[in-house]
Amino acid sequence: MSIIDYSQKIPNNVDLSSDRTLQRALELWQPNFLSWWGDMGPEGSHQHDVYLRTAVSAEPSGWAHFDYVKMPDYRWGIFLAPQEVDRKIHFGEHLSKPVWQEVPGEYRANLRRIIVTQGDTEPASVEQQRHLGQTAPSLYDLRNLFQINVEEGRHLWAMVYLLHRYFGRDGREEADALLQRRSGQENNPRILGAFNERTPDWLAFFMFTYFTDRDGKFQLCALAESSFDPLARTTKFMLTEEAHHMFVGDTGLSRVVRRTAQLMKQSPHEDVRAAGGIPLEIIQKYINFWFSYSLDLFGGEISSNSADFFAAGLKGRFKEQDQYTDHIAAEGSFVMEVVEGGKLASREVPLRNALNEVLRTEYVKDCGKGLARWNKALADEGVIARLYLPNIRFHRHVGEYAGHHFDLDGNLIARDEFEQRQNEWLPTLEDREYVRSLMHPVTEPGKIANWIAPPASGIKGKPFEFEYVRL
Ligand SMILES: [Fe+2]
Ligand SMILES: [Fe+2]
Repeated sequence: MSIIDYSQKIPNNVDLSSDRTLQRALELWQPNFLSWWGDMGPEGSHQHDVYLRTAVSAEPSGWAHFDYVKMPDYRWGIFLAPQEVDRKIHFGEHLSKPVWQEVPGEYRANLRRIIVTQGDTEPASVEQQRHLGQTAPSLYDLRNLFQINVEEGRHLWAMVYLLHRYFGRDGREEADALLQRRSGQENNPRILGAFNERTPDWLAFFMFTYFTDRDGKFQLCALAESSFDPLARTTKFMLTEEAHHMFVGDTGLSRVVRRTAQLMKQSPHEDVRAAGGIPLEIIQKYINFWFSYSLDLFGGEISSNSADFFAAGLKGRFKEQDQYTDHIAAEGSFVMEVVEGGKLASREVPLRNALNEVLRTEYVKDCGKGLARWNKALADEGVIARLYLPNIRFHRHVGEYAGHHFDLDGNLIARDEFEQRQNEWLPTLEDREYVRSLMHPVTEPGKIANWIAPPASGIKGKPFEFEYVRL
């Protein structure tokens, strides 16, 4: 099961040819996917030869093969992590029973909704990033963008396979709808807020891959615990691909910060703008914006859905198996700050109803690691200023804090004050225009734009000067 069969129209390791009906249905969906890719995939990429990785096996050891691929010829396929023998449900009300290989009727609607919501983010991000190839700071970065784009396309395949295989006719309809919604489109937008935000410049792209893809990591980790085994196996394999996306964001931001620090030191009065770099204040405002939008993706702090999903065994906690001992979580509580009578007050919430917040707390911890690395780049270059994460209450649009106003430290403030000060905290139109003014494509191997430092190493042992994209 684990070797991927590339002789078929749809590469897969799920023995697709043994189920003719399913195979035919997916082969009918395939041209629609390709036409979506043609319309909404990376602009101007269709003639490029790109040094890409393709999955050749779903085994953790040596799963990827690197070579030049013409972008539209990338082989999107269906790859599930190997099945664990005798896997048992390890949390919720069905603890210790065998995992499900088919969808239990009572959970069908919820599972479908989980899969559709996850699936929708994948093409959304490709749509959000489709113009970025026109302004890549180097061929190395251009290649990374395209790698992420093709893999998000593959993640869509991963979810569409589940919909077709396990949800019959409504699954097929949902799969079609995934190709019809469009990021940012008013009458038929993508499901989640952050996936309708524009990603118009490379600073936003690195923020997206650091903060928003990281939400993806935590959602996928929670689903990799699922009692619905095909979902667990699918998301497990997606996580191996996802790691690179976050690496691109993390190292991308490190490189931007390092370059900014260098320009601060080089220019009199630390005037980064005059030197053609991105000032630290703008980087901080982008962090404030993308971090807050990505926090919203975890859903409300107090959520009966999260309780239901956990009790049913559909969605676990982060590292449920390794990190917790009480896998029922029916007792215990979680204390969080909520707004009550115009003030912040502590409220104790039953643990299961606070699981979105539990997952979000893990996420925040993980986000902090990047900040430490970027601040180290500042320290290395002799700059005293530091970057930080705003308080989780700042600039939220979902959950307990939505509709209230907070400063960067999480103090409740009046709307007026927020409106007066938001230009200090969030990117202004002018900030965005300035960043955009720096975005010029650099397409010569070994060359890089002035606003970002080169990476410490290349891809797959190749040097930075390697011709990662043949234009
Ligand atoms: Fe993805
Ligand atoms: Fe991703």
